[in-house]
Amino acid sequence: MSVKIAPSILSANFAELGKEIKDVEEGGADYIHIDVMDGHFVPNITIGPLIVEAVRPITTLPLDVHLMIENPDQYIPDFCKAGADIITVHVEACPHLHRTIHLIKENGVKAGVVLNPATPVDVIKPIIDDIDMVLLMTVNPGFGGQSFISSVLPKITEVKELVGDRDIEIEVDGGVNEMTAKQCVDAGANVLVAGSAIYNQEDRHAAIAKIRQQ
Ligand code: DX5
Ligand code: ZN
Repeated sequence: MSVKIAPSILSANFAELGKEIKDVEEGGADYIHIDVMDGHFVPNITIGPLIVEAVRPITTLPLDVHLMIENPDQYIPDFCKAGADIITVHVEACPHLHRTIHLIKENGVKAGVVLNPATPVDVIKPIIDDIDMVLLMTVNPGFGGQSFISSVLPKITEVKELVGDRDIEIEVDGGVNEMTAKQCVDAGANVLVAGSAIYNQEDRHAAIAKIRQQ
């Protein structure tokens, strides 16, 4: 499986969001990563379904929607209708994980689970045959531009072993840049989210290419 790059629009210029998305699409991005925060599960507020709906016609790339919210079941149908292609939910926010995953899939959208840096891999074992993606946070969620937590690297390998030959993508998110990308891929990741490492650069095409080279 080749490695995919998912620029996070959290570090984009929101006044020019359409252009910012086109820029990374032309620069070779594979997914557009959209960070949804509610000010409860994480200490920041960002994007709702309205923005997902607005960017849907801007790009043909899959929209990878990362829900960092409490009670995701309440909002999943809206994000599906808005045009999400993949929705990931935090296991820490889902007391009924199986129900939540199936709610996403019933709406015709790919479903994934997210683990915070301190959450052990074991919690996804019962759900492994129901999911399309595992997202491992390599920072504590809430903000762009934080430093990569390298103690998560062995968890990536653990997830890779658990996934085996199932068709499940392993994504990493937080502090991914041209230096840490290689460590993640070597450990078993095949989708790399990068916010500041792409959007804080003048030349986003070059930034994507640099990460891909690794
Ligand atoms: C953090 C978000 C990330 C964030 C990554 O809570 O989930 O997607 O945008 O930003 P960088 O790549 O700058 O760490
Ligand atoms: Zn994210």
